[in-house]
Amino acid sequence: MALDLILRQGRLVSQRGAAGFPGHPDSSEVDDSSEVDSEVDRVDIGIEGNRIVAIAPHLDLIASQEIVLNGQWVSPPFVESHIHLDSALTAGEPRWNQSGTLFEGIEIWRERKQALTQADVEARAIAVLKQMAAQGVLFVRSHADVSEPSLTALKGLLAVREQVRDWLTLQVVAFPQDGIYGDAQTEQQMEEALRLGADGVGGIPHYELTREDGVRSLQRIFELAQTYDRLIDIHCDEIDDDQSRFLEVVAALTLRTGLGARVSASHTTAFGSYNNAYALKLMGILQRTNLNFIANPLINITLQGRTDTYPKRRGLTRIKELWQHGLNVSLGHDCIQDPWYSLGTGNMLEVAHMAIHASQMTGLAEINACYDMITVNGARTLNLEDRYGIAVGKPANLIVLDAESPYDALRRRATVTHVIAQGKPLVETTPPRSQWLSRV
Ligand code: FE2
Repeated sequence: MALDLILRQGRLVSQRGAAGFPGHPDSSEVDDSSEVDSEVDRVDIGIEGNRIVAIAPHLDLIASQEIVLNGQWVSPPFVESHIHLDSALTAGEPRWNQSGTLFEGIEIWRERKQALTQADVEARAIAVLKQMAAQGVLFVRSHADVSEPSLTALKGLLAVREQVRDWLTLQVVAFPQDGIYGDAQTEQQMEEALRLGADGVGGIPHYELTREDGVRSLQRIFELAQTYDRLIDIHCDEIDDDQSRFLEVVAALTLRTGLGARVSASHTTAFGSYNNAYALKLMGILQRTNLNFIANPLINITLQGRTDTYPKRRGLTRIKELWQHGLNVSLGHDCIQDPWYSLGTGNMLEVAHMAIHASQMTGLAEINACYDMITVNGARTLNLEDRYGIAVGKPANLIVLDAESPYDALRRRATVTHVIAQGKPLVETTPPRSQWLSRV
């Protein structure tokens, strides 16, 4: 039998990911002494059409195309769990965010989005998705601002979802950037966005006018998700205020509706400011929910803490502790070159690299867990289920890294040399090599 593609002699990490799925169940059992590559073997991977059809130490088969990996490391693709493609690549338009705060960013975006056209949204979104895919990202969840009556951002991203579907899976969340109850129309626009086909319902309870409006917005989001059978992803407590406590409301609604892993809480940066007595109580409730958590360490380490002098808070959720308590944590960029964050390259290894530093996850099991947060944990957040992973019968989405292990990839932010999407080679990149011109 002739296959379409065989990857020869790649090194494969165990299907459970680098550090278990979703997180380590018990921090007391974290083992730093394990070998980096204890679960790695060289294998051939056979692909027919868009499926993986064989994995074995040596496949005695031929294929139309073969790629010899010489022990390079094969990984499931990166998953970007949280980005705003509608605002990407607009940094400085119409002006730079001088205070660096979330709130000045919202003001600037309110001005910029008056000039949005669908073509503008589509062009920038496609440019960023290509930038990400070239670096191994094949699954993306983007929020789309639905606070304008035209729903231009949402329509643009729904069109992009179709344009890229042969090589990348894009989920679009209807996100009311200015709050659901900030004006009289947004609630209807949210519902219209779901009728148009948004994959998820979003929210921003800490930005609603009152605490009561915030709670009411969450109740409405859960109602809409149940009515339209959609996922939920809430921008939750993205503020340094230790009294911003909408996460407990999200947890209670998740328990009462039984929606569990269909619900994600993004940012939750106030969790980093809660007192430990409250945080401990909250963690116990969260463990009953099966909620997903999405942290965005690149942006939140710069966006938060802006009202502090010194000591200055890191403004991140409790990534390490959530993982230690067995909760599913994944990571995202949130923004790439927009009013909130002017940097970003679409490289998920940079995101995880910052998580390692800012969350002090420097043990080997912790570093491996951060790799899971940009791969298998992200797949769980996006509810990808059996559409993700390297196994016979699964869709042939995989990447090859110029690295020996998750640790090696993260330390060097290694080059993704091959991206295979739906069975077809999509991108090939040659790692940079220095040439010494003088003898030293
Ligand atoms: Fe966000």
